[in-house]
Amino acid sequence: MMTTIHPIDQRLPDDGVRTFDHGRRGRFNAWFFTAFDRYVNHIAARHKRHAFGDLTPGTIVEIGAGVGANFGYVPEGSRLIAIEPNVAMHDGLLRRARQRDVAIELVADDAHVLPLADDSVDDVLCSLVLCTVSDPDAVLAEARRVLRPGGRFRFVEHVAAPAWSPRGWLQLVLRRPWSWVYEGCDTCRDTASTVERAGFTRVELERRRFRHSCFVPVNTAIAGVATN
Ligand SMILES: C[S@@+](CC[C@H](N)C(=O)[O-])C[C@H]1O[C@@H](n2cnc3c(N)ncnc32)[C@H](O)[C@@H]1O
Repeated sequence: MMTTIHPIDQRLPDDGVRTFDHGRRGRFNAWFFTAFDRYVNHIAARHKRHAFGDLTPGTIVEIGAGVGANFGYVPEGSRLIAIEPNVAMHDGLLRRARQRDVAIELVADDAHVLPLADDSVDDVLCSLVLCTVSDPDAVLAEARRVLRPGGRFRFVEHVAAPAWSPRGWLQLVLRRPWSWVYEGCDTCRDTASTVERAGFTRVELERRRFRHSCFVPVNTAIAGVATN
């Protein structure tokens, strides 16, 4: 399958890449993450500082970059490859990159197969993405493939609360409608286990709630750094 890396400011050709266009739902999601960007970054600030705060310039891949919520953590001088299959996110993503003066290459494709060589990347980041991808184990295997030895996978993700808890019950009840509104986002994923079994040499992971978040069904969270 042909996959193209599109430098910033080039238009995206429809040449067989696996973008998705969920119509209104995709546009709603793009609007939501644009409108609530500051709020989401605020409630996740401690998590993001923990996972992304010590990034150093290098080749960085962001999986599910959305509209560029994490561009502020990318150090100057980096090569940033943003993987984002939802076409409705692209205008916001490119606009944010220009505003923040971040040089990005946008890959309009999904993260199950990355168009990058083995051992070619210093850091892979994602926030609020492993809840949505269809096969998180495959995405992490692909992240490990492209990361150089010693490279880091950095993540901030919402995860399932214990099943017997009130939050766990709420997450279960809302699972289907939430997934429909947020393009497949699963409120009940055990992403900590997914990261832990992915084969990294070291996983440092912290469980910490998104404090003061009004999005109660998705406020149980993890953040951390896994070393390849
Ligand atoms: C909840 S949004 C989070 C966006 C951004 N990371 C943030 O923190 O604001 C999830 C993002 O993952 C993207 N996504 C969904 N499935 C994906 C896949 N298979 N590969 C890469 N990105 C994907 C969505 O298009 C969306 O932009």
